[in-house]
Amino acid sequence: EGFISSSSSLVDRPVTFEKVPIPSKACRDRLVRTPTVIAMAGLPARGKTYISRKLARYLHWIGIKTKVFNVGEYRRAVKIHADKNFFDPDNAEAVAVLNQCAQKALEDACTFLSEGGEVAIFDATNITYERRQAIYAYCTQTYCFRVFFVESICDSSEIIEANIKEVKLKSPDYQDVTQEEAVADFLLRIEQYEKRYESIDDKNDEKQFSFIKIFNCGERFLVHKIGGHIQSRVVYFLMNIHVTPRTIYLTRHGESELNVQQRIGGDSPLSLNGRMYADALAEYVANENIPDLIVWTSQMQRTIQTAAKINAPKEQWKALNEINAGICEGLTYLEIAHRYPEEFAARDQTKYHYRYPGGESYQDLVARLEPVIMELERAENVLVVCHQAVARCILAYFLNKDAVDLPYTKVPLHTVIKLTPMAYGCLMECIPLGTEAVNTHRERPKNCRSDRTISEALNDFLEDHVGPNKIRTKSEIVYDSAGTKIETIDIDGNPVSDYCREPNDQNYI
Ligand code: F6P
Repeated sequence: EGFISSSSSLVDRPVTFEKVPIPSKACRDRLVRTPTVIAMAGLPARGKTYISRKLARYLHWIGIKTKVFNVGEYRRAVKIHADKNFFDPDNAEAVAVLNQCAQKALEDACTFLSEGGEVAIFDATNITYERRQAIYAYCTQTYCFRVFFVESICDSSEIIEANIKEVKLKSPDYQDVTQEEAVADFLLRIEQYEKRYESIDDKNDEKQFSFIKIFNCGERFLVHKIGGHIQSRVVYFLMNIHVTPRTIYLTRHGESELNVQQRIGGDSPLSLNGRMYADALAEYVANENIPDLIVWTSQMQRTIQTAAKINAPKEQWKALNEINAGICEGLTYLEIAHRYPEEFAARDQTKYHYRYPGGESYQDLVARLEPVIMELERAENVLVVCHQAVARCILAYFLNKDAVDLPYTKVPLHTVIKLTPMAYGCLMECIPLGTEAVNTHRERPKNCRSDRTISEALNDFLEDHVGPNKIRTKSEIVYDSAGTKIETIDIDGNPVSDYCREPNDQNYI
């Protein structure tokens, strides 16, 4: 979708969007890209939905077409409110409804895989041997897919109760009841499930399955019979994530000398405005009092100078360096449009996959950043000082953005983006630090053909942003008469929320 077929060998083929054929049984385990059903297992409130969504976000980011099928959502479509009695195994009518929902979700998961999906996450309790056998038989015999079970086992009452309070109480099941009533009801619901619960039997009946057992949110793991590279990546990811509350701070470097000249790439030092941002950033970080903060920069001087005055341990990552623009390094967009009109148009047609001659694509950048994301998952409080394209890739991971939108995400200079992982997503806050900077964001032009005029190629980038006042993002905060913050506006009077979404908006995912 949205990708051109180009004769240029510089454009990576968007392989992840091709349909995956259903393999024969003989080939299933030998083919690298055999679709996989990841079936969750475990009692309620063991973080199965948290794991499912987080895993889906990661797989989507690395280019694997993934979808979650949550049986709870299927059940709520037929029975909106359900209390503990609904989950009683002796309630035959309810058991029939739950079985039908699980069956429908699994069928939909397999249909998704047979239509080109690569990983379907079947998010249900799947607590009995009989149920897991049925899933395995259906996925491998009717469809010839791989199956991987992820069982979450937790005996810490603190973790369970925290989970209930954080996510279950917001469920439509508990709309009109008090918090105490809801917690009590949910604990009884868990008891209903405990009556039938059989953990995966790794010694006898289920030892032919591929699975991972996660104990107490990652305290310990049991990994059994991993089949194929997707399963190894899933295991690697699951072994790196944690649930300790923390905040990730993300910012681009301060304005550089090449930014002022509207030139891309290079390794120039900070401009005067950029140095002011470095001061403002150090002051901001000091005021935030962030426990055990670690600062990561790229190996380019503009990020190193930006972080220089921050009082925290620093590490430089080559993987955080800006996208390599190859033959276009050091040019302005206007110069690229003049010198390489076909390249410039090819990039606009498929910006995520386009690779600069002698340089990189956004897709390359995502692959280069995977170890950074993995370390970010392992880390606690971190400030990442990076670059426009790199920040877009990192944000796409946390905000689950599609490849088509990723290269157009607005990440203004001189703004700190605060990312706080929440129950099922990530809260994003943007804090412009009030120091002036040029704008380096160029929208996708309407006309992406290679025979377009220079002015069409540049969109309105030049008209809009090059001018003595227009290229500023200095912001101010607007308060209402009661002194409550209502909006942050940039120097043109436009709400910052136009390009930085605030916590209470749909960005709370
Ligand atoms: O303009 C600043 C910059 O960081 C360049 O070094 C880089 O090539 C560019 O942004 C990436 O943005 P885009 O992919 O939109 O050209």
